[in-house]
Amino acid sequence: MGLHKEIIRVTSAYFDDEIDSLKLSKASKEYRIILEGICGTNMNIEDGRIDIELDNGKALGTYWAALCLDDLIRTRKFIRGINKAIKDKINSKKPLHILYAGTGPFATLILPLIFRYSKQNIKYTLLEINPFSFQLLKNVISKLKLDAYDITLVNNDATKYKIDSKNEPDIIISETMQTALAKEQQVPIFLNLMSQVKKDSIFIPEKIALSIGLVKKGTSINELQAKHYYKEKKVFEVSKESMFPANQTERVTIKKITFEKKQTVIKKEKLAKYNQLVIITEIQVYKDEKIHISESGLTTPIFIQDIPDNLSGSIIIDTQYKISSNPKLEYKITLPN
Ligand SMILES: C[S@@+](CC[C@H](N)C(=O)[O-])C[C@H]1O[C@@H](n2cnc3c(N)ncnc32)[C@H](O)[C@@H]1O
Repeated sequence: MGLHKEIIRVTSAYFDDEIDSLKLSKASKEYRIILEGICGTNMNIEDGRIDIELDNGKALGTYWAALCLDDLIRTRKFIRGINKAIKDKINSKKPLHILYAGTGPFATLILPLIFRYSKQNIKYTLLEINPFSFQLLKNVISKLKLDAYDITLVNNDATKYKIDSKNEPDIIISETMQTALAKEQQVPIFLNLMSQVKKDSIFIPEKIALSIGLVKKGTSINELQAKHYYKEKKVFEVSKESMFPANQTERVTIKKITFEKKQTVIKKEKLAKYNQLVIITEIQVYKDEKIHISESGLTTPIFIQDIPDNLSGSIIIDTQYKISSNPKLEYKITLPN
């Protein structure tokens, strides 16, 4: 019971409405020390550092998955977003079902919440593909003595996982992404899970948007802040609404999905004020819990092209998101002759 109280105490900083960077950083270090203590295993070994390479992206090695906790704003906004979604969905009629796809070794994003809600009100399915992370997760759950809670642990691939239609989750969480939705499996995981649930289930993040952006001239790399970026056009979105529009009669066949090609044309008059093209990532975790440009490693803009001076015409950027062993937003940039 001591550990439960300790986790509640240490993680309370995530629930403060104002961000106090020092307090947050201290809380995150303490949270990590508690988790590593419970886990009791060195993850910085070969088995822990190996990513799992799959035909639709990679799953992070255990050591790297554990490190995600240190991305302070990401961790704070996910925990707060999940908390708000729980508050919106919880009811006295039946227990809420939360599916957490890609827990890593600690189930980092849900542990601060498990002890804040009554065990009768929420049931959990914790899904993890990496066998080493899964083994550590089992140890952590067992050492936390959560037997009285309704927790199902599943060592499976969330891109193929079949949801039991009699036990549909109300909230589905997955943070399996890097900036620009490159390399990892966020998109195939959400496609698979979104195709199996009713419209009112909440996905966390609610929305991930990729845009073509521009960087203002005259700012050195070290000084770049959100205000120095200009969003030109959104070119890809992951959300229930965009993946499975309400008016769509046919279910998308997940295996053969092809995302729409988008073309962005930027006129030379506009380009004069900017010197770089970038891909911008923005995340709406849930409602007002949003991860803005550069707030987290997940929203660091990706540089794609220097904009030459004195262009004779427009720049055209053709983009299309593709799922492959290295998923990414593919792009082709055409500069004027
Ligand atoms: C970026 S880490 C995040 C860890 C933790 N949830 C957090 O937010 O701190 C992603 C985790 O998802 C797992 N994962 C990736 N692809 C998966 C898949 N297809 N099915 C289940 N788990 C997956 C990885 O093994 C890794 O543990």
